Amino acid sequence: MTMKILLENIRQLVQVEDKARTWVSGKEMGSLRVLEDAFLVIDDDQIETFGPMKDFNENLVEGADMVMEIDCAGKIVMPGYCDSHTHVVFPASREQEFVDRINGLTYEEIARRGGGILNSAKRMEQRSEDELFADAMVRLDEVKRMGTTAIEIKSGYGLSMESELKMLRVIKRLKANSPMIIKSTFLGAHALPVEYKADRQKYIKLLIEEMLPEIDREGLADYMDVFCDQGFFTVEETAQLLEAGWKYDLQPKIHANELGLTGGVQVGVKHQALSVDHLEHIGDDEIKALLASKTMPTVLPGAAFFLGMPLSPIREMIEAGLPIALASDYNPGSSPSGNMNFIQSLACIKYKMTPEEAINACTINSAYAMGVEKIAGTICSGKQANLFITRELPSYSAISYYFGANPVETVIINGEIY
Ligand code: NIG
Ligand code: FE
Repeated sequence: MTMKILLENIRQLVQVEDKARTWVSGKEMGSLRVLEDAFLVIDDDQIETFGPMKDFNENLVEGADMVMEIDCAGKIVMPGYCDSHTHVVFPASREQEFVDRINGLTYEEIARRGGGILNSAKRMEQRSEDELFADAMVRLDEVKRMGTTAIEIKSGYGLSMESELKMLRVIKRLKANSPMIIKSTFLGAHALPVEYKADRQKYIKLLIEEMLPEIDREGLADYMDVFCDQGFFTVEETAQLLEAGWKYDLQPKIHANELGLTGGVQVGVKHQALSVDHLEHIGDDEIKALLASKTMPTVLPGAAFFLGMPLSPIREMIEAGLPIALASDYNPGSSPSGNMNFIQSLACIKYKMTPEEAINACTINSAYAMGVEKIAGTICSGKQANLFITRELPSYSAISYYFGANPVETVIINGEIY
């Protein structure tokens, strides 16, 4: 039986395009293509067509055995968020470190004492694949209800052959069991396990010579990540790892410039990274390198907010002509939230992005940052029917205005209503 879904009387249909674009950058980030009083037709799992209500006629839903009508009067319809940077497979929350930071310790001090990522790695050993899968499914369901329909998930809390593979196999199971679009990233170089302190190359060799071939054999990863930063992996080590990843066709998506001006952006760009993420520390050289590249600068406002870090100079970057993507970085240490509506609020309030810029950054640009711009990120005929309907709102700007809330009422993924 064929079914079409008709969304009618949509107050604002946001982020529409006739032809799939790659990304929006610079001044263009400030404009959003919006149809007022619109309709949209979904055919099976795809967006078929859309337009102003006055142009609607019954022929547009002909040919289906069944048409489901949804009245969207007073409501906003948006493409589902693409959250291009998360760590939603994790073994346990870390609120003790949150309290330690309130009492004066820094994130780096906690990490040096064996807390932080290493703390998660220790607990990872004790969690079974089934438990990790069940917990992550709950988190996926949580973010889906807040409008996220595509998500990238990293390994990196394993830090041993066994645990890294376990995490990646969990992500593979999530791909098979969740309706969301999921991309998987190998982040074995997230932190150096203590036992390799005296011989860093030994760990890097383990990543390159043992883990990568097995990951390739099982088809467990789409991308390659390294935490290239002060106290974590150096630029030289990052280059070595990214080259090794490319041998298996794993394009880099790296953590860079969170803790200092470390050269992370440049090494990412040099190795054709799809994205460089965090970017709290950005100077003229980084902007220049990015302008000459196809690498998406991705900012993670949740982590900067939660850790009280310096803010990325987003205004300067946009004014220089760059695109910006935003992602949640959902993880237990630096950003325990996957609410992309709140990420937009932070972007507007703290970084002075306009709502239009923030929406572009969470949809079309973050779709590019996870390699799904051809099928997601905008309302475009032929793209996957992944979108959400808000409750009644006066305009799309109210999404970032009502900070901390969830404006999402209905989520549609692949033409299925959730
Ligand atoms: O993206 N910066 C590195 N990694 C994660 C945090 C991981 C953790 O603290 O558990 C991040 O912020
Ligand atoms: Fe991260």
